[in-house]
Formats: sequence, structure tokens, C-alpha cells
Amino acid sequence: MQQTIDHLRAEAHRLIEKAASLEELEKIRVKLLGRKGEITHLLRSVKDTAPAERPQLGALLNQLKVEITATLEEKINSLSAAARASVTRKWDLTLPGNPPSTFGALHPLIAVLEEICDIFYGMGYSRGDGPDVELDYYNFTALNFPDDHPSRDIQDTFYINEKLCLRTQTSPVQVRTMERLKPPLAYIFPGRVYRNESVDASHMAEFFQIEGLCVDHAISLADLRDTVHQFVRIFFGGERAIRFRPHYFPFTEPSVEVDMQCVGCHGAGCGICQQTGWLEIMGAGMVHPNVFQGVGYDPDAYTGFAFGMGIDRITMLRFGITDIRLFYENDLRFLYQFRGAV
Ligand code: DAH
Repeated sequence: MQQTIDHLRAEAHRLIEKAASLEELEKIRVKLLGRKGEITHLLRSVKDTAPAERPQLGALLNQLKVEITATLEEKINSLSAAARASVTRKWDLTLPGNPPSTFGALHPLIAVLEEICDIFYGMGYSRGDGPDVELDYYNFTALNFPDDHPSRDIQDTFYINEKLCLRTQTSPVQVRTMERLKPPLAYIFPGRVYRNESVDASHMAEFFQIEGLCVDHAISLADLRDTVHQFVRIFFGGERAIRFRPHYFPFTEPSVEVDMQCVGCHGAGCGICQQTGWLEIMGAGMVHPNVFQGVGYDPDAYTGFAFGMGIDRITMLRFGITDIRLFYENDLRFLYQFRGAV
């Protein structure tokens, strides 16, 4: 028996030594130590030997089993290490990954646009939409622009053909909406507008506006004032004075430009407001009777106010951004600063 054991031990070592792959080693393990393996078989046959020999034989065979198991393990480890070393990877797949930094977030302009809409929803407004490629009729004529108004000039407006242009303002959506609906109505119209501008820190050829329109019996300039004041309080926070300055827009009469107390100095005068204490935030006014007539509203029965605000400008004021171009360059270092902020 001793001879058989010695022989098996020598044979096992030789096989393991020679094995060149993990698959081969597994076969050797099964051949020696598997359920029907040679060592397993010998161990099982111990019970058939003479009782006096059993303890010694059992001990010998167990020792062999432990020894061969250890040798197998050693060889498995060295073959696996060699296998790992032979793979030349550019990436270390075991390194911890980067924390997810690509969760989507709204662009700051869109986030502010939605925030403004939310404020007006809170005041009972609905939201409407109109086409970016607009008829000259809606962009100008129906808004009471005279035929020779300078903004109709090709230098200011992108024309597609004689009748079609890229809308230069969101105001045409007022007209489209009034053509469709009867008063009373309170609407906001956010969207992109286009102007043939040379681009600089405060001008883009493409930017965002939000238009407001409220029509009913006996709507007055005081309603406009209250609505804008409420918006400014909620959007910019705190108590903040607003003021109206007389202005001219073809589609409103009277027309005003609205200023609010400066976000930087609260009226004391600083660099942001060029020492005036005030910042212009929108154009507004009472809807012109000619516009009402054009859409079939009776100007003697109804009055309304309208306003138009640049979303880019409002966003810049909110965050102290001094160059409008940053919004359109899509530099992630810029955009990521607003994740969670708006
Ligand atoms: N559409 C004007 C612009 O783009 C802004 C504006 C002014 C809109 C007065 C209005 C308004 O609705 O009443 O400059």
C-alpha cells in the first residue's frame, strides 16, 4: 500500500507541475480528488482493510490529500497570476469609478423660463406658444407697426421670404391667441426670438423672451403695475420697488419701460446699475386699440395690458452673469454651476 501511495504522490506532483492551464488543473483535481478520484477511492477503501492497519493508512492518505490539495491551490494561484499579468489593458477595471457627473439638468435659461412661468401660473395665467418662423403680418402688421418701421428692415430682421421671417419678439403670439380666444384671458408666451444683431457681451442674434397678456373689462395700468411688482418680489426676493418710465411701442398705448431697484445695491447706486440704482427689466403697456380691432375685440368694451421680458437678461441679473454668450457656448464648466441652483 505504501508503494501505491508513493506512486500516486509522485504521479500527482508530476501532473500538477506539468499542467499549463486552469482547465487542465481542474481535470487533474477531478482525477485525484473528485467523487470518483483516485485518492478519494483509496480513502474509501480504508474501511475494507484490517482494523489494525486502518488508523495508519487513514492518516497517510489524509496527509496525501491535504498535500495534493495545497499543491493544486498553489499552482492555481500561480497560473491565475500569470494569466492576469499577460493581459495588457489600457484600463484598470478594478479602479473605483468616477462619481456620476452627467446627470441631466435644465439649462439655466430654461430653468429660469420655467420658474417665471410657475410664478405666473400662481397668478392664474395659462401658457401659450407660437411659431418661431412667423408671418410678417403677425410679427409686425397686426401689432400696429407702420410699414416703414425701422425694425422691419432686413438689417434687424431675418427674412425667409417677403412674407415670412424669424420672429423678432414673442408679441405675435398675443395676436394669434386673441384671434383664437375671447376675453377674459391671462396668458404667458415664452419662446425664442431672433434678431440680426452683431454678437457681443449683451447681444445675441438668438435669445429668449417671455410675453404676458391680460385682457378683460376695465383692466388698468394699476393692474399691470401690481402684477409686475408681484413677479419681481417672488422672482428676485424681498421688497423691491419698481417704476414705470414712459416709452414707445407700436402695439401699446400708453407704453412704458419697467425698472426695478438694483439687485446689487437696492437703489444706492453701484456698478451693475451704472450708479442709477435701477435696472430695466421689461417693456409693457396697455394693448393698443388698433391691435384689439385687428383681432375682432371691441376696444370700447375691453382693455388689457401686455409685457415682454428678456429671459437671458433676467437670468444674468439673477446670477450676476456679465456675458450673455456664456449661455450659448455650452461649456459644461459654466453650465454645471447651475445644477441645483435653479
Ligand atoms: N416686444 C417688445 C420687444 O421685443 C417687448 C414688449 C414691449 C412686449 C411692450 C410687450 C409690450 O408685450 O407691451 O422689445
